[in-house]
Amino acid sequence: MAEQKATNVTWHAHTVTKAERWQGSGHKAAVLWFTGLSASGKSTVANAVDSLLNKMGKRTIVLDGDNIRMGLNKNLTFSAEDRAENIRRIGEVSKLFVSAGVISITAFISPYKADRDKVRALLEPGEFIEVFMDTSLELCEQRDPKGLYKKARAGLHKGMTGIDDPYEAPDKPELVLDGNSNKSVEELAQEVVAYLEKQGVLSV
Ligand SMILES: Nc1ncnc2c1ncn2[C@@H]1O[C@H](COP(=O)(O)OP(=O)(O)OP(=O)(O)O)[C@@H](O)[C@H]1O
Ligand SMILES: [Mg+2]
Repeated sequence: MAEQKATNVTWHAHTVTKAERWQGSGHKAAVLWFTGLSASGKSTVANAVDSLLNKMGKRTIVLDGDNIRMGLNKNLTFSAEDRAENIRRIGEVSKLFVSAGVISITAFISPYKADRDKVRALLEPGEFIEVFMDTSLELCEQRDPKGLYKKARAGLHKGMTGIDDPYEAPDKPELVLDGNSNKSVEELAQEVVAYLEKQGVLSV
């Protein structure tokens, strides 16, 4: 994991507080951290939540796995070490967005508990909302929109989460979305928004 390499660095405290930023937007900020297998529905539901919040006038951003791997994290692979670094950077970026008063919605498989818990530890209590997209491997494999499960089963794609790489489900996620039920994407997204409302994130 990342060590502090530079010495002679001093933290400069910011002048504008979080609470002052919330006054500007009319709501608080948090990270909605989606985790789950590939094809479990993270990106789909994350974007549906984003749409709902956007219609409500909330400030949001979606940070999505492959998109971030095509930019900020293009120098990282899917090795355990690089997966950890991937999540660390997304955690730090999410923290910056929370500082800016923005609700950050992330959609990464993020298979390792320890990596997710490190992001949780970066944030203040209540700011890290772990959303477990609980969809069975069978259903994910049936969907297989990227064809990755098929390739992995054929031995043509190594390190596929759920096949030859582990997925560590969260022990105590703030929210579990049942991806195996017949609930629509819209219904699942509404569950997330209802949680934010209940926690008081959507108001000051
Ligand atoms: N609740 C749902 N009901 C039916 N189909 C769904 C649902 N959620 C997602 N899907 C479909 O499942 C497929 C995979 O969803 P999505 O791309 O959101 O998965 P993901 O978890 O982001 O995967 P990856 O980690 O590979 O990016 C898509 O084709 C999507 O339309
Ligand atoms: Mg996705």
